[in-house]
Amino acid sequence: MTKQRLVMGNWKMHGSLASNQQLLEQLIAGLGSAHSHSDVVVCAPHPYLAQLQQILTNTAIQWGAQNLSEHTQGAFTGEVSPLMLKDFGCQWVLVGHSERRALYGETDADVLAKTVAALDAGLTPVVCVGETESEQAAGQTQAVILQQLQSILKLETALLSRIVVAYEPVWAIGTGKSATPEQAQAVHAYIRGLLARHHVAAVQVLYGGSVNAGNAADLFAMPDIDGALVGGASLKAADFLSIAAA
Ligand code: 13P
Repeated sequence: MTKQRLVMGNWKMHGSLASNQQLLEQLIAGLGSAHSHSDVVVCAPHPYLAQLQQILTNTAIQWGAQNLSEHTQGAFTGEVSPLMLKDFGCQWVLVGHSERRALYGETDADVLAKTVAALDAGLTPVVCVGETESEQAAGQTQAVILQQLQSILKLETALLSRIVVAYEPVWAIGTGKSATPEQAQAVHAYIRGLLARHHVAAVQVLYGGSVNAGNAADLFAMPDIDGALVGGASLKAADFLSIAAA
């Protein structure tokens, strides 16, 4: 089955009103033909979602957030609910990015709760998984991914079929050291197998970790790599456009 390729930018904690506007205008102007084989999404910090809604409505680019609360409203100071993301036109939200897990203590239980909250609100959660360098060295990659995904895999099929999975090996994030296409393909095939056992073969599985204009095409040539979650290179219009067109 051929699925539409999905190229997502994760801006992380970067941007300003002025630089975002310039970047978005360059992306809108540049997308034309690239859009024909990639769906393009950008995930911005919460304060900029209103700006994305204003600039990206009725364009080929969709947008989303990088985190959400598992609650819909209430006394949760500093949190942002899935309904608020919907209010600003988000269709997507990253869940369980390795930086959230490592720096903010998000557990697999938190990731499950946030995934369910996103689905309940009609958002597409992009569930991020991946092993650290030491886990990889110890041959634990599959075990780590199984652990990170197993509670999510127990969701009912109708819900599970609405997620996207992003494989982001921690050792490849922001290091310039991408997984090779073969390394990534092996893990994607494993993830695909887990999903297939739960009857959701059509879920998209993205690769993330030092994706750039030079390596995207080789990664996308792999049968189980359905697109990319791009950090640093998503902040440069020319690089992000080349990845979308790769
Ligand atoms: P880089 O592309 O900067 O390695 O970041 C990957 C990432 O964490 C995307 O979510």
